[in-house]
Amino acid sequence: MKMNWVEKFLMNNPIRAAFHVHVEAPLLERLGGRTEGLRVLEVGCGRGVGTEQIFRRFGAASVFAMDIDEDMVARARTRLQGFPPDRLRVEVGDVTAIDAEDASFDAVFDFAIIHHVPDWQAAVAEIRRVLKPGGRFYFEEVTRHALDKWSYRFFMEHPTENRFTTAEFIREVERQGMIVGSDYTERGGGDFVFGVGRVAPAAG
Ligand SMILES: C[S@@+](CC[C@H](N)C(=O)[O-])C[C@H]1O[C@@H](n2cnc3c(N)ncnc32)[C@H](O)[C@@H]1O
Repeated sequence: MKMNWVEKFLMNNPIRAAFHVHVEAPLLERLGGRTEGLRVLEVGCGRGVGTEQIFRRFGAASVFAMDIDEDMVARARTRLQGFPPDRLRVEVGDVTAIDAEDASFDAVFDFAIIHHVPDWQAAVAEIRRVLKPGGRFYFEEVTRHALDKWSYRFFMEHPTENRFTTAEFIREVERQGMIVGSDYTERGGGDFVFGVGRVAPAAG
């Protein structure tokens, strides 16, 4: 589900970008480490602030960044035009039908997008499908605790059914074969969850 104009305003401004750079990305790095020299997918890239962090802070070799909203993809392409095309691809796409082969990425980043997806369990399954053995799923998500608040309901548009708590999200990530264990943390009194799920390395 695309963002409405209120949420676009909240997302596409320098305060949100500063939070992204100085709070969210460092927290995910503490939980999951860097992705130096690795092949990374970012789902729901928005205007590309996270993609920049995946290159600069996490050290990825290449990023495939995608978003369901053509307007956000256009903004990301403009923002990221300094990165060479052999290291960056930015496309319109749906996290529940990722245009990539099985086991083709070392890491997947989700900066607050899965709570926009009606069938969020399908999104988690798709992310697991494209991760290689030993791959990592970095997530920052917005829980039902936040989405049930009048402010979210009044000003923004999200699916109203089938939302998740922190425990439900972690359980689904683990059910899909990514171990989270204690590598997650809540913020905002349970409104947000940050964490990393790891696929087991290949045997031998
Ligand atoms: C809250 S914004 C976050 C954007 C960006 N990751 C950030 O942190 O600034 C959620 C993003 O998810 C995108 N989105 C929603 N549903 C999606 C889907 N099914 N597949 C891919 N992207 C989706 C929206 O268009 C929007 O850009």
